[in-house]
Order: sequence, then C-alpha cells, then structure tokens
Amino acid sequence: MISERLKAIASLVHNGENVIDIGCDHGLLDIYLTLHNNNKCIASDINKNALNQAKKNINKYNLENKIKTILSDGLNNIEINEKSTIIISGMGTSNIIKIVNKIDDQYLNDLIISSHNEYEILRKELSKKYIIVDEIIVKDKNKFYLILKLNKGHKKYNKKDFYLGPILKNKNNDIIKNYYEYLFNSNNLIINKIPNKHIIKKLNLIIKNNWIKKLNRK
Ligand SMILES: C[S@@+](CC[C@H](N)C(=O)[O-])C[C@H]1O[C@@H](n2cnc3c(N)ncnc32)[C@H](O)[C@@H]1O
Repeated sequence: MISERLKAIASLVHNGENVIDIGCDHGLLDIYLTLHNNNKCIASDINKNALNQAKKNINKYNLENKIKTILSDGLNNIEINEKSTIIISGMGTSNIIKIVNKIDDQYLNDLIISSHNEYEILRKELSKKYIIVDEIIVKDKNKFYLILKLNKGHKKYNKKDFYLGPILKNKNNDIIKNYYEYLFNSNNLIINKIPNKHIIKKLNLIIKNNWIKKLNRK
C-alpha cells in the first residue's frame, strides 16, 4: 500500500504517539500509522487539492474520526497542545528548514525529516537546534532517500558528519554501501569535468571522496 520510503519513515515513529504530518499529500502515511502503529495523526497540507485527496483516502478507510486534516502552511494553522512527533517529508531542504524554524519545541517529541535534496545542508541547518539520533537510507524507484530522526538538543558535528551522516557513517548494509558508492561515482564524474581554474571546488570533492574511501566500503 505505501512505498518503501514511507514505510521506513513509519518505522521511526513510536507506537501510539501523537503525530503531525506536514505536507501529507495523499495522507497514506497517516492511514498506515493509524492502522499499523496506533498513532493519533494530524494530516496537514498547504494545498487544498492534496488535502481533499487525503480526506478521500482517509474516508475510504473509515478513519475520518481518527485522523484530523488541517489546511496549513507549515505549522501556521496547527495548534499543538500535546507532546507530538512531527514528520516533514517529500519536500526540498530549504522548504523544510523554513517550516522547522517555526516549530515550538515545547511540545516536540521526535522530529522526522526526509528531504529529496541537499542532505549536507539539511544536517548542518537542523543541527543548530537538534541532535541527529537516527539516519536511514532507502532506495525507492531507483533513487536514494535520507530519513533523519532528531531530538531537541545540541551536539558538535564536523564537516565530515554533515556530509557522510554522523549515524549513517557507522552503519552498514547493502543499501548504505550502494549509497556511498553512488556518491563517490557522482563526485568522480564532476571532478573529471571541472576545469583546473576551479581547483577549490575540485579539491573539496576529492576530500569528500577520501572520506568515503576511508569508510572502507568500496
Ligand atoms: C511530494 S509531496 C510529499 C508527500 C508525503 N509527505 C511523502 O513524503 O510522500 C509534498 C507535499 O508537501 C506539501 N507542502 C509543500 N510545502 C508545504 C508547506 N509549507 N506546508 C505544508 N505542506 C506543504 C505539498 O503541497 C505536497 O502535497
């Protein structure tokens, strides 16, 4: 019923927890979490048509009394008065950061984020307010997706952590190995194309590829 990516997101959500899903689109994650993880979900989206589709799907499963739907830009129209897990997935990093910056952490339990671009910037920005407690890489329809779980707090990370992932670099499975291989090969393609006058850009990518090499996954 739902994609591997959404299933991986669901695997990070505690059973029975209140969930606010920002950018729910079709609402399938909320339906899955309600049926399989006993979660109490608020499904929200900025787009009226998307939210209507979510409502239709929710009705199909007779869950209209269990899943609340709210039209909202980020958290603007959502009143939080209970500890909740906030999920923001399937958007770009700059949009995610804008939404995250408006979160009132008082009621935040876990923050679960899945962006479709700029993972290095994403980690760097989020770590200004949060600690990365878990990282998952999923391959869905031939594309790699990073899913982050974060908690309120502060931890010192370095450039290598932002690039490789502070948790991910210490994990190993075939998908993670393939993901680092993919990064390495993409960097190599760019390195070979960059003219020498852009030597700094080239050196940065060479450094990144050395970090990957040292993981010993190649
Ligand atoms: C590609 S869909 C992702 C759906 C689902 N979260 C997933 O991961 O498969 C992105 C959704 O985010 C919504 N969206 C984009 N910016 C938003 C914002 N500022 N506040 C709420 N929803 C937003 C879009 O309308 C769209 O429905």
